[in-house]
This record gives sequence, structure tokens and C-alpha cells, in this order.
Amino acid sequence: MHFEEFKAKVMAAFRLDLNSYKEKQLKRRLDAYIVKLKLKDYEELFRQITQKRDEYEKLLDHLTINVSEFFRDPHRFIELQQHLKDLFKDRQLVRIWSAACSNGSEPYSIAIMLEEMGLSGKSSIDATDIDRQILNKAMQAKYNRDGLKNVSPERLLRFFDAQGDLYALKDIIKKKVSFRYHDLLHDEYPKNYDLIVCRNVTIYFTREAQDLIYKKFHLSLNPNGILFIGGSEMIFNYKELGYEKLSPCFYKKTN
Ligand SMILES: C[S@@+](CC[C@H](N)C(=O)[O-])C[C@H]1O[C@@H](n2cnc3c(N)ncnc32)[C@H](O)[C@@H]1O
Repeated sequence: MHFEEFKAKVMAAFRLDLNSYKEKQLKRRLDAYIVKLKLKDYEELFRQITQKRDEYEKLLDHLTINVSEFFRDPHRFIELQQHLKDLFKDRQLVRIWSAACSNGSEPYSIAIMLEEMGLSGKSSIDATDIDRQILNKAMQAKYNRDGLKNVSPERLLRFFDAQGDLYALKDIIKKKVSFRYHDLLHDEYPKNYDLIVCRNVTIYFTREAQDLIYKKFHLSLNPNGILFIGGSEMIFNYKELGYEKLSPCFYKKTN
């Protein structure tokens, strides 16, 4: 079985659109996985993932890059605080979606900021990812020091409990975020958000897939809603897609 055939079969069996991921990188990761599992070829890998659901989840976990940390690019989060203040000016409730949230560091960072701003009760945060294993970790909300390097000692003390080598997020923040499965390339997009945070994932997708995702986010945002993207990402045709560029990582839905 060739790479192309493998992708087509995975699409048919699991509705996972591997064609929308950048090809070189995807192939490299798939080939490395075959070597790691001491399998012969794509055919054997396909057999394995179709025989046991668990094996499919493991492959997905390998293919997706879950690197994340609290307050990733801290200066962007400082900027986010200002945008949040603006959003609250003319809204009773601010609805936030962290799309491709990985281990939860991203939506929990926002929940911490809202708690500090005294706006926790006036907001809701949904967080989604395609990788069920990482979603389970997100719900456990236990982190090692590496992912907490941008968390100040005051925040660490106020919002985490030390548990051996790990830090467990306190319930007051944990309960603010609702996690669920969502595939950005396939599933229907939920609507009526004031802020969508989607960072460090579209870099893995083809340009066509990126365009489609930003188009769908536009439909998911309320008027004047804001899209917050990663530092190495860019929406080239933002005007055409209906956004105004506020700064390198922030785009506003134009009406
Ligand atoms: C590098 S992490 C980014 C996490 C976080 N947004 C951040 O910036 O720290 C990329 C995440 O995208 C998720 N992902 C990959 N493909 C996806 C898809 N089609 N739909 C939803 N999430 C996806 C991965 O599972 C992974 O958790």
C-alpha cells in the first residue's frame, strides 16, 4: 500500500483528513511510527489501527504535536488582556473557544487571567482537540515545571497545588473549562463566540486547509469577535476573509 492509498483508506475508515496536513512532515512522522512499532509497511499499520480503536488513538497521538505551555508567548497574553477588557465593555457574557487546546495550558491560562480580572463569572471557555489522549490529560490538569515556566510564583501559589514533582491546577480554574473532541478539518464548527484562540496548529496544515479554517472561524465569531493565532502563523488574505488585523496575532471580525 502506498502513502496516497493509506491516506485515502484512513479517510474512509476514520474520516481523518490526512491530505490537509503538510505532506513532508506527515510522511516523516508516519514513517518514524512504522519503524518505532517495528511494522513492515503502511498496509500493516492500517491493519493494526483498524483492528483496535486504541491503536488508532495511539497513532493520532503520535501524529499530532502536543507541545504547549501556560502563557505561551507571554507578551501576547498581556495583549490579550486588553482585548478581553474591550470585549467585556459591551457584552454581558464573553464566550471563548480554545481550538486545538492540547493539554489545556492555553484555555486554563485564559481562565486564570479572567479570574484575576474578576470576570470569571461573566465568561465561558470551551476547549477542543482531535487527540483524545491529550484531552484526558487536559482534564486531569497536572503539569510539570517545564510547562509552567511563564507562570509567576504568585500565580503558582494561588492557582496550583504541588503534588510531588507535579503541580495540580485548583478546581476553581479547572471547572471553568469544558473540554471536548473536535476535528478542525472535518467537524461542524460551533457558533457564537466572542474570542477564538487557535494557536500553533494551522502551521501543520496546507494553505487550502488554513483558508477554510479561518473562513469557518469567521462564521463562528459574533460581530466584532476576535481571533487569536500563533506567533509563527499569519492570515495572508485576512481582508478577503472578513477580518481586520489588529496586530500580528489578533484579527477582528469585520461586520
Ligand atoms: C502544538 S499543539 C498547540 C496547543 C496550543 N494551542 C498552544 O499553542 O500551545 C497542536 C494541537 O493541535 C491538535 N490538532 C492537530 N490536528 C487537529 C485537528 N485536525 N483538529 C483539532 N485539533 C488538531 C493536536 O492534537 C495538538 O494538541
